[in-house]
Amino acid sequence: MSDEKTHGAGATTVDAPGENTVEVTFLPEGKTVTFEHGKLPYKDHGKEESLLDVALNFGIHLDHACGGNCACTTCHIWVKEGADLISEMEDDEADKLDMAADLQLNSRLGCQTVIKKPGKVVVEIPAWNRNYVSEEH
Ligand code: FES
Repeated sequence: MSDEKTHGAGATTVDAPGENTVEVTFLPEGKTVTFEHGKLPYKDHGKEESLLDVALNFGIHLDHACGGNCACTTCHIWVKEGADLISEMEDDEADKLDMAADLQLNSRLGCQTVIKKPGKVVVEIPAWNRNYVSEEH
C-alpha cells in the first residue's frame, strides 16, 4: 500500500504554458522570456512581435542602430531553435544580411524576424554584437 504519488494537490504550477504562449531564449545569456502570442506591447522598433520587439519588451540588449528599419546589421542573431515559428526572410533582409559579419545559415535580423506561432524559439546574439555598445557620441 505504498501510495506516495501525491502530485497535484496544492502543487505550484511551475511550467504550464498556455497553448498561445511564446517562449524565447536568448543565448548565451540563457535568459528565457514568455508571453502570449499576439499580446506583446509594441515597443516602436522593428516589426511588431519581432525578436527585437521581444528583446526590448524584456530589457534584453539587442543592438538596433537603424531603429529596426532593416537598414543595418546590428540586430543580427542566429536562430537555434523554432525556425518554423518565425516569419520567412524577405529580400531586403537577405540583402542586408549579406553584409553581416559571421553570416550563418540560421542568421536573421532581429527586427525583421517576426514570431508567427506560439512555441519555443532559441536565438543567439553574436558576441561582437553584444559588445557593440555605442561608445561614440
Ligand atoms: S536594427 Fe537595423 S536592421 Fe535591424
